Amino acid sequence: MTKIAVLGYGTVGSGVAKVLDENGAQVADSAGDKVEIKYILDLRDFPGDKHESQVVHDIDVILNDPEVEVICETMGGIEPAFTFEKNALMKGKSVCTSNKELVAAHGPELVELAKKNNASYLFEASVGGGIPVLRSMNDSIRHEKVDSITGILNGTTNYILTKMDQEGADFDSVLKVAQDKGYAERNPEADIEGHDACRKTAILASIMSGQFVKYEDIYTEGITKITGEDFEYAKSLKMAIKLLGSCKRENGKFFAMVAPFLIPFDNSLATVNGVFNAIDVHGNMLGDVMYYGKGAGKEATASAVVADVIDIVKHKGRHIDWNLRNVPAEVASKDDDVRCFFVRTDAGNADKAKALFDGLKEVKADKVSGEFAFITKEITEKDFEAKLSELTGVKGYIRML
Ligand code: HSE
Repeated sequence: MTKIAVLGYGTVGSGVAKVLDENGAQVADSAGDKVEIKYILDLRDFPGDKHESQVVHDIDVILNDPEVEVICETMGGIEPAFTFEKNALMKGKSVCTSNKELVAAHGPELVELAKKNNASYLFEASVGGGIPVLRSMNDSIRHEKVDSITGILNGTTNYILTKMDQEGADFDSVLKVAQDKGYAERNPEADIEGHDACRKTAILASIMSGQFVKYEDIYTEGITKITGEDFEYAKSLKMAIKLLGSCKRENGKFFAMVAPFLIPFDNSLATVNGVFNAIDVHGNMLGDVMYYGKGAGKEATASAVVADVIDIVKHKGRHIDWNLRNVPAEVASKDDDVRCFFVRTDAGNADKAKALFDGLKEVKADKVSGEFAFITKEITEKDFEAKLSELTGVKGYIRML
């Protein structure tokens, strides 16, 4: 029997209890041992809940109990989660977590600490909800030279963009539904401004590079500037609009970015709708491999946390190694990144736009008038910004994949 503790009885923590309650036999079969929750740490009490008697309010009860071998940290946020995790690892308890904020900020040092204490630090649920992408990258395709990762990494924004596109729904009402369904972060800004996708991109980029990619080094834009008109143009271009997190090695540089992109319908990422996430990883031998599944929500995310528990039980007494060193990775400025851009300006600016953006291609949309919209030729981010600053009446722009 392996006894575990769950820190935080919110959406994901209660999901972990549910997975163990409903799939206990399958978990035991996979782990080769029964897994039982001994404690649940939360500030609240849960009268009438099935796990009421396991709830404690003092972390030291858990840390000082030698029977507890694995900690599932599903609280989220940096503190007190960081302190709790460090203290658990220092006591030789393994930790698994869905806490992307903490993994993005301190993951490599927590892996290092786990190693020092012959424990493991796993964080499958921190990227892509229930999708088993990190374990696969660290194991099945670890021998690949991965040169790019492109993903839809935030369920809430993908849900919002899908509803805006398919139903013409307004931003605020769709966000409310996503929050009610338990997809969104407590602070919706983390989703819609791209911060959550940025943390996940940093984690993927770190595993891709084998070094610590700081989320602060990743240029990030959210989806708040995307409008109904943008979707009209996207339709006429046979493209979808998705918030992408990407990292790539190109010309000896390592680029990473989070921003909305126009994606051609024939690219699989364009067909990923609702709360689903998808991550395309390109390896030098393998080519493209696509991971797809529910990127948010109680059961899916909890399933990934339990997968980590199982991995830890299977490797009891051994550190599970990550291809991740605690040394800073060098992320190139986006200035030299090259792509096409879709731009919308007031109709009166057509001539100026044509003069500035040599070889542009005009784009029309049935339901939009009074505008001049166009696609640039391939251009560096730096040159694009410089030219755009000379153009007045710009209504918006979107990068193109
Ligand atoms: N708010 C996150 C999302 C939850 O919408 O993807 C899962 O990390």
